[in-house]
Amino acid sequence: MIANNAFAIDLGTSNIKIYNAANDKVLVQKNMIAIENRKDMIAFGDSAYEMYEKAPANIHVSGPISSGVIADIRNMEKLLRSFITMEFRGSIKAADYYIAIPTDVTEVEKRAFYDLVKDSNVKAKRIMAVEKALADGLGMGIDVKNSQGVLVVDVGYDTTEISILSLGGIVLSKLIKVGGHVFDNSIVNAVRREFNLVIGSKTAEGVRISFNDLSQNEGKATVYGRDIVTGLPVERTLTHEFVASTLQENFRSIVDNVRVILERTPPELSADIYRHGLFLTGGACQEEGLAEKLSNEVRLRVNIAESPVNSVVLGLSQVIKKSPYRALAYTIEGLGR
Ligand SMILES: Nc1ncnc2c1ncn2[C@@H]1O[C@H](COP(=O)(O)OP(=O)(O)OP(=O)(O)O)[C@@H](O)[C@H]1O
Ligand SMILES: [Mg+2]
Repeated sequence: MIANNAFAIDLGTSNIKIYNAANDKVLVQKNMIAIENRKDMIAFGDSAYEMYEKAPANIHVSGPISSGVIADIRNMEKLLRSFITMEFRGSIKAADYYIAIPTDVTEVEKRAFYDLVKDSNVKAKRIMAVEKALADGLGMGIDVKNSQGVLVVDVGYDTTEISILSLGGIVLSKLIKVGGHVFDNSIVNAVRREFNLVIGSKTAEGVRISFNDLSQNEGKATVYGRDIVTGLPVERTLTHEFVASTLQENFRSIVDNVRVILERTPPELSADIYRHGLFLTGGACQEEGLAEKLSNEVRLRVNIAESPVNSVVLGLSQVIKKSPYRALAYTIEGLGR
């Protein structure tokens, strides 16, 4: 028997992750597109990101996902078709698609994920949805079908999704607008306030991530930007303390929302959550100090994902590979109509 072609896709705001069952590999690329003169795609993925914040006015670089949902359907279709064409080395063949979908969004927004695959001309045979938080749990090695009371916190680019899973379903889920990009913006604003200096969000991200390994930069980083007063390019030194204190407010809103979810959790599940600890994932969960703060404030052991960027797509790959998990996937054809 010839196995079906199948793809699992996590459409992140920052990174698109595509698992290809044919070679059992995961592709991670920036979920970005570069359009020239309002019509021609000149780059996609990582190479579009290279142009971000650097391109001239006639080249528009953007990401079609915003706060976890599809904001620009046409460009997302172009991107998906481009990535799938790449996976098939030029000529697209019929395949099944498994898509991760956030829970705390409208039915119309959920249905848009189905329409996206259907309308992208990728020869989709079956289009299946899996709740993103369940995929996250599976991807972190949790047997989500048989576990009760699992708290998953996914800190992404634009959003943090906080969910309580139990026996293959979602008991509670909340999507809040905090993530790595919000961290970057906080740094951009603080630098402008403190030093009259305008820096780009890519620069802010670079500094933030460089401080995760203090042995590398001894707690100091040099940034280049534009002085607000003189308009001239200048360099300044940012300290680790400055950046860390800037991020406290963002950490606080994640902690507070985890608290709210815990307060709403049925007491029967609280004991299980206490036993398992909190499962932390998403690229920005690696931000220094966040796991520690969460653990101190909500008094739970924190388990950090082995590969935080990929846990959703790895979970989706389990749904494709392991038949007991197939039941976690559902069809969304009729939704939102
Ligand atoms: N080592 C690291 N330390 C801190 N932050 C990191 C690190 N590596 C990646 N990130 C951050 O992770 C974020 C991207 O993570 P991820 O791929 O999980 O987001 P996404 O799935 O695209 O977004 P969303 O889930 O919000 O739609 C970026 O903001 C990036 O700065
Ligand atoms: Mg994500």
